[in-house]
Amino acid sequence: MANIPPRLFEPITLGALTLPHRLWVAPMCQYSCDDGMPNDWQLVHLGSFAIGRAALVMTEATAVNPAGRITAKDAGIWSDAHAEAWRRVVDFVHTQGAAIGIQLAHAGRKASANPPQEGRGAVRPEQGGWVTVGPSPLAYGRMPVPHELTASEIRSIVDDFAAAARRAIRAGFDLIEIHGAHGYLLDNFLSALSNQRDDEYGGDEERRSRLLIEIVDAVRAVMPDGMPMVVRLSAADWVPGGIDAAEAMRVSQRLEAHGVDLVSVSSGGNDHRQDIPVGPGYQVPLARAVRAGVGIPVGVAGLIDSPKQAETILVDGAADVVYVARQFLREPTFALRAAAELGGSLEWACQYQMAKFAGSIP
Ligand SMILES: Cc1cc2nc3c(=O)[nH]c(=O)nc-3n(C[C@H](O)[C@H](O)[C@H](O)COP(=O)(O)O)c2cc1C
Repeated sequence: MANIPPRLFEPITLGALTLPHRLWVAPMCQYSCDDGMPNDWQLVHLGSFAIGRAALVMTEATAVNPAGRITAKDAGIWSDAHAEAWRRVVDFVHTQGAAIGIQLAHAGRKASANPPQEGRGAVRPEQGGWVTVGPSPLAYGRMPVPHELTASEIRSIVDDFAAAARRAIRAGFDLIEIHGAHGYLLDNFLSALSNQRDDEYGGDEERRSRLLIEIVDAVRAVMPDGMPMVVRLSAADWVPGGIDAAEAMRVSQRLEAHGVDLVSVSSGGNDHRQDIPVGPGYQVPLARAVRAGVGIPVGVAGLIDSPKQAETILVDGAADVVYVARQFLREPTFALRAAAELGGSLEWACQYQMAKFAGSIP
């Protein structure tokens, strides 16, 4: 019987970008920047995944303006100097044959927090933080009540996403992802639990998705033809009355109609009452539900730690690509191991060829 090639190691094409396999590095905040500037940490951290042969390496959530940072240590791209600093990371990743995408983000009502290394929790303006913003004056857990954005402030955030995208393109990124998940600004607008506006940005599902769609359109307008755009969604709030998979599927249909190339399915983060059924691949059923309603590819993340598990998700038709976060931290060469275990063809970097050799040295 002929060997069936692993689905994980089949190429996938998004717009004009073809990626050689479907095991991608999920975005991971590093809380290691000053003034949003990427530095040697991002170079080594993201560079190591490229050396490890991940097909696509995503940056951490990268703020489109300073108030959109989760913490003062977040990465950003709100000036040309940021774009220049990102270029060094992008260029290195490209030397390894990997692609690199940027996750453009605004933290909304969860901004102005302490980074994990300083214990999390809100940093209020009088403590050196800043006023957070959201669709409605509704707090996330014990975080401060956000300022309710006016229509003109919303327009300026749309502009900030477009300007950030323009800079990301100049820095050489291959793909742009809009962060619409995890209880940050765009998710705050999408969910009825956090959006109680009665203007054109709130109310029914379509109006709650209006800000996200406006940003998708504004970012697409500055992108070159064929450059892929991804949107990450929380496909469940895990709270009654919040977003569920059926609603996420309808949002995804709107995103598809507006030219988004892939929906990355995640969940949670928008309501502290969330009750998440955490377990291996716990977000896979959400991805499957979204994928059933759209014609574009769907990615999934969440406790996917083994090559066989990742392969099964794709073979079962629950998703088209697998994003992995923590396993890449534990093992930056996870993609190389996956290829070895499943029978994919990936080559180690020439400098690391000896890693394949278990005999005595010299
Ligand atoms: C250190 C760390 C930082 C993260 N930062 C981000 C982020 O910036 N943007 C985002 O969308 N998700 C972020 N996540 C969530 C991951 O992308 C991923 O969805 C989650 O960790 C589940 O995947 P895993 O089980 O493979 O770790 C982060 C996760 C970790 C562990």
